[in-house]
Amino acid sequence: MADVRPESMERITTPELAKAFIDEQIELMRKQIGDKKVLLALSGGVDSSVVAALLIKAVGQQLVCVHVNHGLLRKGEPEQVIKVFRDEMNANLIYVDATDRFLDKLEGVTDPEQKRMIIGGEFIEVFAEEARKLDGIEFLAQGTIWPDILESEAGIKAHHNAGGLPEDMDFELVEPVRILFKDEVRVVGKELGLPDNMVYRQPFPGPGLGVRCPGAITRDRLEAVRESDAILREEFEKNGLAGKVWQYFTVVPDFKSTGVKDGKRTFDWPCIIRAINTTDVMEVTVEHLSDELIDHLVQRIINEVPGINRVLFDYTPKPPATVEYE
Ligand code: XMP
Repeated sequence: MADVRPESMERITTPELAKAFIDEQIELMRKQIGDKKVLLALSGGVDSSVVAALLIKAVGQQLVCVHVNHGLLRKGEPEQVIKVFRDEMNANLIYVDATDRFLDKLEGVTDPEQKRMIIGGEFIEVFAEEARKLDGIEFLAQGTIWPDILESEAGIKAHHNAGGLPEDMDFELVEPVRILFKDEVRVVGKELGLPDNMVYRQPFPGPGLGVRCPGAITRDRLEAVRESDAILREEFEKNGLAGKVWQYFTVVPDFKSTGVKDGKRTFDWPCIIRAINTTDVMEVTVEHLSDELIDHLVQRIINEVPGINRVLFDYTPKPPATVEYE
């Protein structure tokens, strides 16, 4: 495959173009991989999911997918990865529930950058441990896309997909979507038959719900983030906002306020709702929700999520506020 996106390459916008790309990649990957084994860290995000689906078509059981659940995924995500890839596509999938490992390491850690380092470092460690258990792996597949290459060349960000695996793990890379833009990856994913909520899903940060549980993560507050996020996503789906709004999520900050429930005093967390639109994430505007939806979200969250007694809406653009809280 071309390492560099040819200037003349037509933007993949139709099922026909996607199909031609898929057929070409399957050929190329079969040639590259032969009868060897390939390893892939499958997060369930768009890029790694499309890479998995392509490789399943190309080399079937020679692909070994590892899905690491760091305990900071959204409600239902690990289950969906297992259902789509293991049950429906018959992938060779190793599921590692490393929740306790991550949450134990994060206990009492308040600094956002340290939290990110722990999550990133632990992820590589868990993945490397799984890789060491396997025999005969020669290739590592990655969901690198064209903007990753451009940004790392421009020095904007370190190539976040480039593994960071220990040096003795010397795999040859397989990067079937490296010359594609994000919108093209989605068209290819759709053509490969991946579900819409996987193909069109909103951006979700690597450290997951960990950055939406500001300060030291505790299991109970993390559950409040996960449950409130699930309610918000469900309501956005129902109200036709899911494909329209760029990113939407909840945050449960580490402070409590007084409330009253069933005639008794409560002392619980607030839940903050943030829904934003953008094209490049450098500047962000706020999605203004209808009064009806606001009232409905407040009622559902205070009634259904343990530990929450107040719902707040963040109507701050970026700048000055970043999208995430830490
Ligand atoms: P901020 O908060 O910087 O977010 O305005 C901009 C976009 O980047 C996402 N984000 C991250 N994604 N790892 C990621 O993979 C991270 O550590 C991270 N921090 C922020 C954020 O969700 C938003 O889409």
